Amino acid sequence: MNKIVSTKTTLRTVDEITSSRRLRRMRKADWARRLVQENHLRVDDLIWPIFLVEGENREEAIEAMPGVKRLSVDRAVREVERAAKLGIPAVATFPKIELGKKDDRGSAILDADNLINKATRAIKQAVPEIGVITDVALDPFTTHGHDGILVDGVILNDETVEQIADAAVLQAAAGADVIAPSDMMDGRIGAIREALDANGFQEVAIMSYATKFASAFYGPYRDAIGTSGLLKGDKKTYYIDPANTDEAIRETEQDLAEGADMIMVKPGLPYLDIVRRLKDTFAVPTFAYQVSGEYAMIKAAAANGWIDGEKAMLESLLAFKRAGCDGILTYFAMEVAERLRG
Ligand code: PBG
Repeated sequence: MNKIVSTKTTLRTVDEITSSRRLRRMRKADWARRLVQENHLRVDDLIWPIFLVEGENREEAIEAMPGVKRLSVDRAVREVERAAKLGIPAVATFPKIELGKKDDRGSAILDADNLINKATRAIKQAVPEIGVITDVALDPFTTHGHDGILVDGVILNDETVEQIADAAVLQAAAGADVIAPSDMMDGRIGAIREALDANGFQEVAIMSYATKFASAFYGPYRDAIGTSGLLKGDKKTYYIDPANTDEAIRETEQDLAEGADMIMVKPGLPYLDIVRRLKDTFAVPTFAYQVSGEYAMIKAAAANGWIDGEKAMLESLLAFKRAGCDGILTYFAMEVAERLRG
C-alpha cells in the first residue's frame, strides 16, 4: 500500500490555482444551467426527411431504420399534416421508385407525374403552409444506383446537369419550395438557377448539398429507396473524400457563386468540423443532414440498452446547433418535435 503524504503546507490551494475562478458555480443548479445555456434546439430547426412509395394506403417498415417508414402519397400527406401541426417548418422527400420505371439514364426523373412530383402536389394542396424540399438526383431512377448518367463506367457531368436542371423545373412546377441537388456534379447549381428563372420560378430556392462526402453512413438510406442492391462500385468520383476539408470550402464557394441560397453538409455528426468551418467562412444559412447510418447507430445502441436513446438523440441534435447549423435534416424530427412540444 502506498502511503499518501499530505503536502498541504507546501502546495498552492485550489483557490490559488484557479485564481478563485470556479466554473462549477454556474453548473450547481438547474436554474443556473438553464440561465447560461448557449445553444437551444427548437422545433423551428427541424427538417423531416420522408420516404415515398407508390400505391395507396401503404406503409412499409425499413429494417435498419426503426420507426421510419416508406409512405404512399396519401399516408405521407397525413403525416405531413401532423408535422405541420407540431410546427416543423419543412419536409424533404425521397422516393422509392419501382424497378420497372428505372433505366440507365434515370429518365423517369423527367416524368411530371413521377412519385416525387405527385407527392409534392398532394402535400402542397393539403398543407400549403409547410415547406417542401425536393431532392433532385438521378439515383432513385437509375438501374445502377448512381447520381448521374453512366456511360462506359464514367459518370457524365454535363449531360447529368442538363437533365437535373430540367427535372428541377418540373419539381418547381409541382410546387416544390426548395430544390436540393444531392448529386455533386460540377455546375449544377448555376444550371438549376438559370432553368428555374427562365421558367418563371425566381421564388424557388436552392439548398445545395454543397459538401457531400463519399460516406459509409448512407447504407440504410440505400435500402430505404431500394438502390443498395443495384449500386455498381462507389461514388468516389463525385462525392468528396472524407479526408478533405479545404475542398469543402471550394465546393461551397462555387455553389454560392452559382446561386445557392442555403448550403448543407452531409453526413452530420462525423463532419461537424466542416459545418463550423463553413459557417465561420461564409456566414450563410447552413444545414447538416443527420443521415440514415447515424440514426441507425443511435437506435441500435438504444435498442440494446447500451445508451439512453432519447438523451443521445437530443444531445446529437444540440451538437449540430453548437457547430453552427441553422437547421438539421433528421429522421428524429417528429420524435423530437413531440418531445419539445410536450
Ligand atoms: C443520393 C442520396 C444519398 C442520401 C440521400 N440522397 C446518398 C447516397 O445514397 O449516396 C443519403 C441520405 C441518408 O443516408 O439518410 N442522392
